Amino acid sequence: MKRQNACVMMAAGKGTRMKSITSKLLHQVAGKAVIDYSIDLAIDMKLDQIVLVLGHQRDQIQDHIQKQYPSAPLSFAFQEQQLGTAHAVACAEPCLKDFDGWVWILSGDVPCLHLELMQSFEKSLSDDTLVAVAGMHLDDPKSYGRLIYDENGKFCAIREAKDCTDAERLNQNVNAGLYRVDAKLLFEALKSFDRNNAQGEFYLTDLVKYAYQRNLPTQAWICKGEQATDLEGINDRFDLAQAQSRICQRINRKAMMNGATLQDPQRTYIEASVEIGSDVIIEANVSLMGKSKIGNFVTIEQGCRLEDVVVEDYATLHAYTVAKQAVIGADSQIGPFARLREGTVLEKDVKIGNFVETKKLHMGEGAKASHLSYLGDAHVGAHSNIGAGVITCNYDGFDKFKTTIGKGVFVGSDCQLVAPVVIGDGAIVGAGTTVTRNVEAGALALSRSPQVGKEGWAEGFRARKKKSNQ
Ligand code: UD1
Ligand code: MG
Repeated sequence: MKRQNACVMMAAGKGTRMKSITSKLLHQVAGKAVIDYSIDLAIDMKLDQIVLVLGHQRDQIQDHIQKQYPSAPLSFAFQEQQLGTAHAVACAEPCLKDFDGWVWILSGDVPCLHLELMQSFEKSLSDDTLVAVAGMHLDDPKSYGRLIYDENGKFCAIREAKDCTDAERLNQNVNAGLYRVDAKLLFEALKSFDRNNAQGEFYLTDLVKYAYQRNLPTQAWICKGEQATDLEGINDRFDLAQAQSRICQRINRKAMMNGATLQDPQRTYIEASVEIGSDVIIEANVSLMGKSKIGNFVTIEQGCRLEDVVVEDYATLHAYTVAKQAVIGADSQIGPFARLREGTVLEKDVKIGNFVETKKLHMGEGAKASHLSYLGDAHVGAHSNIGAGVITCNYDGFDKFKTTIGKGVFVGSDCQLVAPVVIGDGAIVGAGTTVTRNVEAGALALSRSPQVGKEGWAEGFRARKKKSNQ
């Protein structure tokens, strides 16, 4: 019969080296919190139980997890005082009271660790191994715990760098902090650990010595190169940046494999949650964030930044388009230098040109606003044309009001539409008009002060000025 599997995730530590008021586990890597990578991994492993051990900044972390994973089978254990990794795992025991099987022990701060690596680790283990440790072979073993073997080559202990002799410290095979341990043995062993070590902590790593002394089977699985890098945790902002760069490389590679051309993958930032279709062209310095969804045959030119934006097939986003919480319909042409704010919904074949800002704007099929406009709280019907410099005056300092423009309307350049106002289908608003009243369908609205013309006046004016300035 298959044994049951549970996970204890250690996430109570201080993360002092981040120098931040935000928990290390909530810092973002490619748009996702550090701890979410470990939780997603544990969920993907299809474990029977997942216990998170929280302590330092636990409210922050728990709030985040409850929002992010409202229905995941997670339980929480609390470690009031951070007395060491063994103590952290012991705190999870009440959550695993009747559990019998394998306990996978993970840390919440290893975002590059992925399912294939876990599967390789699992495959390498014999069924009777009661304490298994994943290790890394590193050129620079830093302060990681060193894997120690006896004179017969048997894995017998993990020694923290601070407790090592100089000779032991040269050992490049180190503990990655990832374990699979038999549950009964684990909680039995933890009861006997002491704090007689350089850091005065209860060390989880003492499990190896415990099993070795009782002649119980132990095993270390050692990764090299890229795999070893994927097992490295985050301690400071440099590690955070390294992890982000690795994860972004993976995301970009996946986008490319799915049929997107990234003209400069090193300078393209795509978050893990973004979906991208095929035959998409993405130029340099583009950021695609949040729940953005890019269709097929889309072109996104240099410098665009999209957050929670849906872009439908064949749309083109010209350079430096910035959009958030917007929908861009198929075949639409946006920018360069356009700003689509929250609630912008553009149907098919819409044109938004340079220096146009939109907010809560619905634009029907084939409608255009080609230059220099602010369109907020507005509805523009299909095939209407909004001229250069048209502004919806939607705010009186207290409330917002709506502008409704029908189908096939022509609004000339430099008009102000003072909301609330309705312009009927097919109407024409003459250039320079300030619209303050509703315009009937098919009508002309025009408000212009009469033009004055005085022959020769300019010449006389200049002459007078010249004289008075002498
Ligand atoms: C630990 C290992 C070391 C290994 C390294 C891998 C021990 C004694 N040492 O060292 O062999 O090479 O991880 O990264 O285990 N934590 C708690 N409560 C505590 C202490 C720690 O939850 O009281 C959590 C931390 O939040 C972190 C993890 O346990 O997620 C590891 O703790 P950390 O202090 O980073 O251990 P290291 O000294 O790095
Ligand atoms: Mg650490």
